[in-house]
Amino acid sequence: MMRTASRLEHIEPFYVMECAKAADAIARSPECDAARGGEPMIYLNIGEPDFTATPAVQRAAVQCLDAGATQYTPATGLPALRSRIAAWYGTRFGVTVAPERIVVTAGASAALQLACLALFETGDEVLMPDPSYPCNRHFVAAAGALALLLPAGAAARFQLDAASVARAWGPRTRGVLLASPSNPTGTSIAPREMAAIVHEVRRRGGVTLVDEIYLGLSYDEAFGHSALGIAGAGDDVISINSFSKYFGMTGWRLGWMVLPPALVAPVEKLAQNLYICASTLAQRAALACFEPESLEEYERRREEFRRRRDYLVPALQALGLDVPVVPDGAFYAWFDCSRYSASSWDFCFEMMRRAHVALTPGRDFGPALAERFVRLSFASGLPQLEQAVARLGRELGPMQER
Ligand SMILES: Cc1ncc(COP(=O)(O)O)c(C=O)c1O
Repeated sequence: MMRTASRLEHIEPFYVMECAKAADAIARSPECDAARGGEPMIYLNIGEPDFTATPAVQRAAVQCLDAGATQYTPATGLPALRSRIAAWYGTRFGVTVAPERIVVTAGASAALQLACLALFETGDEVLMPDPSYPCNRHFVAAAGALALLLPAGAAARFQLDAASVARAWGPRTRGVLLASPSNPTGTSIAPREMAAIVHEVRRRGGVTLVDEIYLGLSYDEAFGHSALGIAGAGDDVISINSFSKYFGMTGWRLGWMVLPPALVAPVEKLAQNLYICASTLAQRAALACFEPESLEEYERRREEFRRRRDYLVPALQALGLDVPVVPDGAFYAWFDCSRYSASSWDFCFEMMRRAHVALTPGRDFGPALAERFVRLSFASGLPQLEQAVARLGRELGPMQER
């Protein structure tokens, strides 16, 4: 047997994939086969927008290929793209960000990996909320550090607050890794609380990493603000972002991070060695994300996601599937299934088999709420959501409430 590195022991399997495989197997069965009068599976387990790149972005990609303009770019990204991203912070979030602080990466994933490798080492601890996106704690683990999950309930919007950070901070704590809005909950940290966290972490000489991949998809003015707008955030706040969600470019593998000026050169050195650069094709195409035509389309889509949220959350509540905190961003509703089942895993498999609706059980997102909570992704059109709700109602109605 080939010996593998011990760091793999700290990386858990992605259970969601098992559910997705089971959903696909059921989807191929006669009960789901539309040609045989079946009821096709509705996939509400997918963390990916149902929208794709805009026409302007697609045209830019074709032009790039036709011109053969596909050589390596600088490791930090095309200067023109860094400038456009920087300008977008000004127009969309009212925050001034110097283009030199932006490093373009292969998705938020590569940005998170680079940031973790640049900052954390063996023996370090990083505080994160439970529930949170599983890969984020694995980036910390892959850097040799320990992700310390702090249970975060509905009262704290399923997020860390300054008090919980202060309580958990120990001699080995190096910082916090937050996601706002969050996957799986769609809930954000209120700007005032985020400022309190940043100040608490700063006071202790740590670093605040904020995954803002869903910030573009924010539905509530009270929450849709970048942590980069907090006073002094140039020095110790790292913001991670991506073209995947708001810009609908998941498979293009393109993201970025905004770094404190002193971290740009160390991260550049790492990026040169690990990746050379992010995809040139994706970068040249992404320049067109900031054309007025594309931006209008993204805003239209944001409205569409908001409409879905506004339909879905009350509909789930009416089924007895409580959504304790209304999502203010992203495309996830995090609901409590404990009225019907003691295990969210069993609940999801049951709904997959009986209602032909695929959902994501809480297990991947941390142990605290794993058995009670389910993530539903509303990255599907309203008619499909309505159909899914009708089917869930059909199955849950006769089901014994516990
Ligand atoms: C919170 C969060 N961070 C990061 C990522 C990774 O995104 P990317 O496609 O930009 O690598 C995801 C993807 O689902 C996510 O939900």
